[in-house]
Amino acid sequence: MSGEGKGGLEDVVVSTSDICFIDGREGRLLYRGFDVNDLVEHSSFEEVVYLLWHGGLPSRKELDAHLKSLGAAATRRLPPKLIAILRALPRKTTPMEVLRTGVSALAVFDPDAADNSREATARKSLRLTARLPTLVAAWERIRRGRPLVAPNSKLSLAANFLAMMSGRTPTPLEVKTFDVALILHADHEFNASTFAARVTAATMSDVHSAITSAVGALKGPLHGGANEQVMRMVEQIKSPALAEAWIRKALADKARVMGFGHRVYRVEDPRAKHLRRLATELGRQMGDTSAVAILNTVARVVTEDKHIYPNVDLYSGAAYKSMGIPTDQFTPIFAISRVAGWTAHVMEQHANNRLIRPRSEYTGSTHLAYVPLDRR
Ligand SMILES: CC(C)(COP(=O)(O)OP(=O)(O)OC[C@H]1O[C@@H](n2cnc3c(N)ncnc32)[C@H](O)[C@@H]1OP(=O)(O)O)[C@@H](O)C(=O)NCCC(=O)NCCS
Repeated sequence: MSGEGKGGLEDVVVSTSDICFIDGREGRLLYRGFDVNDLVEHSSFEEVVYLLWHGGLPSRKELDAHLKSLGAAATRRLPPKLIAILRALPRKTTPMEVLRTGVSALAVFDPDAADNSREATARKSLRLTARLPTLVAAWERIRRGRPLVAPNSKLSLAANFLAMMSGRTPTPLEVKTFDVALILHADHEFNASTFAARVTAATMSDVHSAITSAVGALKGPLHGGANEQVMRMVEQIKSPALAEAWIRKALADKARVMGFGHRVYRVEDPRAKHLRRLATELGRQMGDTSAVAILNTVARVVTEDKHIYPNVDLYSGAAYKSMGIPTDQFTPIFAISRVAGWTAHVMEQHANNRLIRPRSEYTGSTHLAYVPLDRR
């Protein structure tokens, strides 16, 4: 690593952006200047999408028009040929692999595929944001051998996704929890997947290519994949009574504990408390609070021992699990929300573009003498 740098581009400012601000010391997260706590309390995911794309809160009339275009069944519906592609995939394909393939495939069916203008990118961003939930839910139905559930334009994005995935009407608490989870995951400044999207967009490539890059980056366990790993940890621990001993041993073994730590936050991630509260409420409603109890014990020990705090991924999985969502769908759900931020960043990048092309500090050999093959 060159100079004084800490590696991994830590603390490196890559560019200016008006979209999202993280105060890592105070534990504050702002979207377009609005505190995420206020958005959780007063807003909806759809309104947050508008805010991220347009830079300000909508009027009633603007919100109604936005809800209509984002929620239209025709916008949410997948092209039939894409469904045929999904059906052709091996059943064991993981949901994140399906999402990566599906986002890329959506591009070729998009009427604006060849148009990289700002207007066309906005239309494609709308379709991507409307269709990702349908794609994720469709794969869940296909791999379980169940009939697909058509999108319902009368439902919010959160309620419609839960209904399409499960085939049942979700409870109001499930819808509320899911909507809040979507708000909390919608953007997070220059995280790895957003940076991947911006690097791709900065070559003046199209939005589908940028979002495909982002999905690939999100898949890794140090980023979006962490919420799945947290639930696997809960499953290993099995019971709240065993949690303290399990986590103490894990820390003694120098294990990396998923759902903790952050490159930017030095305090608890402001998103974690909302998910803790909602996961607790949902657990109570479903009559099983053991996952949250396990996570609370793990959080107490990790915080006391290592001074590393919970991040957004610690409690989201427990909430999703209470809704009956399979663990390997947690990261695709992250993408259903983050696509709003990714597309906002692609549009911002395109609006004031310069190719992102850093340098490396070369540490290899120089001046080696070439030895012909038969003399090596
Ligand atoms: C998010 C994450 C990748 C950020 O990592 P980073 O900024 O590169 O920080 P580092 O990996 O350099 O960690 C700094 C120190 O804290 C420790 N640490 C950080 N996160 C840790 C965790 N989750 N469990 C145990 N130790 C952790 C590291 O071991 C390291 O200690 P050391 O200096 O004694 O070696 C990291 O915290 C992590 O792996 N967390 C678990 C995965 C996760 O939950 N990701 C979702 C993020 S929203």
